Amino acid sequence: MNIVEVKIKANKESSYPIIIEQGLLDNAYKYIQKYTKANKFLVVTNDTIFNLYGKKLEHQNAEFIVLPDGEIYKTMESLNKILDKALEIKLERKDCIIALGGGVIGDMAGFAAAIYQRGIDFIQIPTTLLSQVDSSVGGKVAVNHTLGKNMVGAFYQPKLVLADTNTLNSLDKRQFKTGLSEVLKYAFIEKTCNANENFDLYDFLSKNRAEIYKKNPETLKRLIEICCKLKSVVVNQDEKEKGLRAILNFGHTYAHAIENITHYEKYTHGEAVSIGMKLIFDLAKSTNYISGEYYNKALKLITKYELLTELDFNPDKEEFYTSMQSDKKVSNQSINFVIPTNEYEVKIVNNIDKNTVLKGI
Ligand code: NAD
Ligand code: GLY
Repeated sequence: MNIVEVKIKANKESSYPIIIEQGLLDNAYKYIQKYTKANKFLVVTNDTIFNLYGKKLEHQNAEFIVLPDGEIYKTMESLNKILDKALEIKLERKDCIIALGGGVIGDMAGFAAAIYQRGIDFIQIPTTLLSQVDSSVGGKVAVNHTLGKNMVGAFYQPKLVLADTNTLNSLDKRQFKTGLSEVLKYAFIEKTCNANENFDLYDFLSKNRAEIYKKNPETLKRLIEICCKLKSVVVNQDEKEKGLRAILNFGHTYAHAIENITHYEKYTHGEAVSIGMKLIFDLAKSTNYISGEYYNKALKLITKYELLTELDFNPDKEEFYTSMQSDKKVSNQSINFVIPTNEYEVKIVNNIDKNTVLKGI
């Protein structure tokens, strides 16, 4: 069993464990009941995951709300359905919402927990690789608005994260690779995270590709642990994204624009992120932030994992740029880029001129 303790410097009440192990879902309430005094649970999930794992979360004191599957349902309407259900079953202040699913379910259920009766306990059971290494950790919860992704949300930390690596066995290759994009992101930002351990994630990924794709449970547990440690170190220093936390958006400035101009239908989030990482490495090379040698090394890992690196259409560059400007991380219309500067180091810059950016798209 691998355990990562998430501690938040500015918020002493928010420390919680991420437990990473095979088969946790078989005894989920044994862990859950250690971290909440809830009498009643509302399990939020979608139809795909309910059919796969719903039975494992049945409990005499648990009710389910099963939403339709998909990013298009990450809406205020679904949020309302969760809140309606919570009221209908008379969930009280000390009760608990459990998110069983990927990032879409985790983000929505967490936001419902944050606002229901001004905040009730919340537990994350992430079932995708992306949610196990990223979205279930750190407390960003949200729904989408018609005018922008994750535009309505909060920072609200869970009481516990249970990452059962067995759930990854039912994940298809495309979704698994989506999670791997976020994993590679951590390799490229590792040094700037300021962890007091050196994981050398780039090296780990270079050596363990075959075992990772075979879903070797021990390799996956270690991989998830490293990513969660890196993320928790960053969140500890900057929970509310006043500065450092923005490095977790490496590749995402482009990715959000890609998702936006393709209406969240063509690419998964991770696919957009891997294309975004390639574009930011291109930008860093063309502006001499990094050497050709590091550029080649970075690209070698992205291609080794067969992640997407190119759009398969020619975007309207102006539309693409405008879309980048509407990202949440923009201030005064200048785009913040998390740019690589050295091996596994990045920094945030906002002075790259439009023409240089357009040339690279
Ligand atoms: P997702 O939740 O849509 O899950 C992807 C697909 O896999 C869905 O069809 C889902 O039903 C299915 N699925 C989930 N678990 C499965 C399993 N074990 N076996 C088979 N199928 C399974 O997508 P995601 O990639 O997990 O998350 C993306 C979302 O996460 C986006 O909305 C993004 O904004 C959000 N996100 C949030 C954060 C954060 O910090 N809060 C970080 C990154 C991404
Ligand atoms: N996934 C980015 C963050 O949690 O800040």
